[in-house]
Amino acid sequence: AKPMPQKKVLKSRDLSGLADYIASDKCNNIVLMLGAGVSTSAGIPDFRSPETGLYANLARLRLPYPEAVFEINFFRENPEPFYTLAHELYPGKFRPTVTHSFIRLLAANGLLHTCFTQNIDTLERRAGVPDDKIIEAHGSFASQRCIDCQQPYDDAKMKRKILAKETPRCETPKCGGLVKPDIVFFGESLPDEFIRAIPNVAKADLLIIMGTSLTVHPFAGLAERAPLACPRVLVNLDVVGSIGRRPNDLVLLGKCDEVVRALCEKLGWGEELEALWAKT
Ligand code: APR
Repeated sequence: AKPMPQKKVLKSRDLSGLADYIASDKCNNIVLMLGAGVSTSAGIPDFRSPETGLYANLARLRLPYPEAVFEINFFRENPEPFYTLAHELYPGKFRPTVTHSFIRLLAANGLLHTCFTQNIDTLERRAGVPDDKIIEAHGSFASQRCIDCQQPYDDAKMKRKILAKETPRCETPKCGGLVKPDIVFFGESLPDEFIRAIPNVAKADLLIIMGTSLTVHPFAGLAERAPLACPRVLVNLDVVGSIGRRPNDLVLLGKCDEVVRALCEKLGWGEELEALWAKT
């Protein structure tokens, strides 16, 4: 395989080229792939950043290994670590970022085809991205159910339990099973909604991948489904996955909020972006 390109720092001409393409009539169906890196500036740690990542900071939960916190079999044995984390991550405490407002702006300009996200923080929805454009591939805290009898559990009661640091249990007579938010744990299958949306990537005329290490499949595999004619843009602190190998790939290294602001300046969307974010 070709050697990976040297780390490209954010160059103005790269941004101008991208802005010109987005503004052209050739770009109408943008598909996004988001990871935890788009929410770090909201105060939600990502998973694998060396110092600040969640997996580097779960030691206090005495897990056999970090990912166990999201493993269904471990959860059955010991739901404590997950619920400790759920209390810290629970939606409602965090404000969407300017990157989330950029996604709403893409939709407002009729350019957003599908926003695939791995994040469970529901910040896309809270930023005003149209629901029908969002595919939460790893589920979210939006709903919950018993892992034994599958009985849905009341939303308000769940919120109270999590904020009170109590472990919710199924109230179906003779069940008493553990209740878990509809977040996709390792070992669980991804939502049908994700599976059905996979073909959307083939319709993209621009794929923008932001804030993800592209380490978790099948989500990461979406990037390989972009048509060869579709430019793939990586906006990330470091080069990840195989983005950079295709001749029309573009790697924009940097903080996503900074790249988004610089791109919106080139698009002439700067003021609109800030105004939108200010009221989020
Ligand atoms: N701007 C740009 N990139 C950032 C920023 C930022 N402000 N902050 C972090 N990043 C980058 C990190 O350098 C890293 O490459 O975002 C990436 C985050 O990667 P991960 O922490 O692995 O998060 P993610 O890719 O979303 O994890 C995927 O793993 O644990 C599972 O189900 C969980 O959905 C999660 C999945």
